[in-house]
Amino acid sequence: MGPRPLLPAVLLPLLLLLLLRPPPGSAGARRPHLVLVLADDLGWHDVGFHGSRLRTPRLDALAAGGVRLANYYTQPLCTPSRSQLLTGRYQIHTGLQHQIIWACQPSCVPLDEKLLPQLLKEAGYTTHMVGKWHLGMYRKECLPTRRGFDTYFGYLLGSEDYYSHERCVFINALNVTRCALDFRDGEEVATGYENMYSTNLFTERATALINNHPPEKPLFLYLALQSVHEPLQVPEEYLKPYDFIQDKNRRHYAGMVSLMDEAMGNVTDALKSRGLWNNTVFIFSTDNGGQTLAGGNNWPLRGRKWSLWEGGVRGVGFVASPLLKQKGVKSRELIHISDWLPTLVKLAGGSTNGTKPLDGFDVWKTISEGSPSPRIELLHNIDPDFVDLSPCPGNSTAPAKSDSSLPEYSAFNTSVHAAIRHRNWKLLTGYPGCGHWFPPPSEYNVSEIPSSDPPSKTLWLFDIERDPEERHDLSREYPHVVKQLLSRLQFYQKHSVPVFYPDQDPRCDPKGTGAWGPWM
Ligand SMILES: *[C@@H]1O[C@H](CO)[C@@H](O)[C@H](O)[C@H]1NC(C)=O
Ligand SMILES: *[C@@H]1O[C@H](CO)[C@@H](O)[C@H](O)[C@H]1NC(C)=O
Ligand SMILES: *[C@@H]1O[C@H](CO)[C@@H](O)[C@H](O)[C@H]1NC(C)=O
Ligand SMILES: *[C@@H]1O[C@H](CO)[C@@H](O)[C@H](O)[C@H]1NC(C)=O
Ligand SMILES: *[C@@H]1O[C@H](CO)[C@@H](O)[C@H](O)[C@H]1NC(C)=O
Ligand SMILES: *[C@@H]1O[C@H](CO)[C@@H](O)[C@H](O)[C@H]1NC(C)=O
Ligand SMILES: *[C@@H]1O[C@H](CO)[C@@H](O)[C@H](O)[C@H]1NC(C)=O
Repeated sequence: MGPRPLLPAVLLPLLLLLLLRPPPGSAGARRPHLVLVLADDLGWHDVGFHGSRLRTPRLDALAAGGVRLANYYTQPLCTPSRSQLLTGRYQIHTGLQHQIIWACQPSCVPLDEKLLPQLLKEAGYTTHMVGKWHLGMYRKECLPTRRGFDTYFGYLLGSEDYYSHERCVFINALNVTRCALDFRDGEEVATGYENMYSTNLFTERATALINNHPPEKPLFLYLALQSVHEPLQVPEEYLKPYDFIQDKNRRHYAGMVSLMDEAMGNVTDALKSRGLWNNTVFIFSTDNGGQTLAGGNNWPLRGRKWSLWEGGVRGVGFVASPLLKQKGVKSRELIHISDWLPTLVKLAGGSTNGTKPLDGFDVWKTISEGSPSPRIELLHNIDPDFVDLSPCPGNSTAPAKSDSSLPEYSAFNTSVHAAIRHRNWKLLTGYPGCGHWFPPPSEYNVSEIPSSDPPSKTLWLFDIERDPEERHDLSREYPHVVKQLLSRLQFYQKHSVPVFYPDQDPRCDPKGTGAWGPWM
């Protein structure tokens, strides 16, 4: 007589099933590769699939086969958007409410924030970053490789020359302008890349990482392109299709957009030829609205980069993936850049354990299946010290003062620069930034359609669903909505941390090393 089987035969398949079960929250048997591309300063009206005359055939095709995000929001500036992307948290919770992290400020995303790549690494992913960091670098602990990325290739500041990879900065305390290299491979200064256009370099690095990636291991690739931020530089050949654009800035910008589009073709082709694509979630997003002073355009939306008008914050974005349940659709659900962290960590089968309280939501079901968004409210920002550094036609620089003819709203100081969205409603207070409408250059014969708001105006309410162009202020018609949203702003303000915006530290001077980088 043989020994008794340990388990009745019927239980065996069940046990096997349990053992082979994918980890909770993962999209299937194998965890998906996650490729997140962030374009820089790409405006609403700068892609073919939004009706632009700029040609983006590869992006158009990817967007058409995926889910286009029509009600997708970023922050109005680089550092703010990037900080929210990697922390899943509003700026009022990280101290980064004000402007950006400038080259010589001793500041970075607080080191006690746990970032997206750290969470994905814990979930077993290989994590690569290529491109623009702009989340602070005054100490080595702030660098991408110390914050969850296995590898890094790119630049640490906000902008630079596309070919020389140098950045010039005026250092007040020293009363000098310093130009130095800002380019790194890992933590080392990367030399020998002069005269090579950054987008080509970043695309080559991204495709090399993809080609060398073992397909059975889950991949996270964060590709933060320099395209299409100023300076307006692009190889001559990319200008040829745009002879019809007379405006020189716009023509150069158009060439830059086309080159970026080609890059997206190269990256997705590499994912396909490597056999990764069928298990990849590919996300494309801008970091903020277009800068109309540097070729970008957000028509017909109001405002531009730096502002809380829709032109500053409503972002170009889509998701393409064979793993989507719905494809070829436009999602009108409210989605924000802070939502990617919980969404991607969930897709990765990971845990957001260890983060501080998140402001983002897991929106995968919204994107993949068309379920209603779990997000019904979005704090665009509160910044008590707001200034817009770029000239706005017709703006006298007198600080905005509350309109005394308005009813008393005690809940929130309406001179403060702030904006909030709740379902269809959007409320703006203070000076939201340049509030004109900028038609696409060389298509209209006016450079802007000026706002008719008096300088004293500091409060607007819009029904954004019906009025995405922010033309009809409804604050006088719906005082109860105004009151409700002001009390929400007051709530957020009460729970904000103080703004952290330190003075320049002259020790940032790159004179000694020849490169911008950690100085403490
Ligand atoms: C700064 O330098 C410029 C020339 O390099 C000089 O004209 C100016 O007086 C200096 N300003 C101060 C405050 O030292
Ligand atoms: C895309 O790949 C082709 C072929 O390798 C290359 O010639 C081209 O420069 C690449 N484009 C970009 C933007 O990297
Ligand atoms: C994806 O493609 C690879 C290689 O072509 C193949 O082995 C794998 O079975 C495919 N996976 C799915 C989910 O289709
Ligand atoms: C979260 O972290 C705590 C403390 O580190 C641990 O006790 C708990 O089991 C973790 N939960 C999950 C779901 O990982
Ligand atoms: C309201 O905010 C403005 C702008 O930040 C500020 O100058 C003013 O002092 C504030 N008023 C009160 C009563 O706090
Ligand atoms: C003009 O811009 C400045 C900051 O750039 C802002 O503080 C001010 O309120 C604006 N003035 C008007 C009248 O819009
Ligand atoms: C250009 O301006 C003229 C005169 O103001 C106007 O009649 C015409 O419609 C404008 N053209 C465009 C394309 O806006």
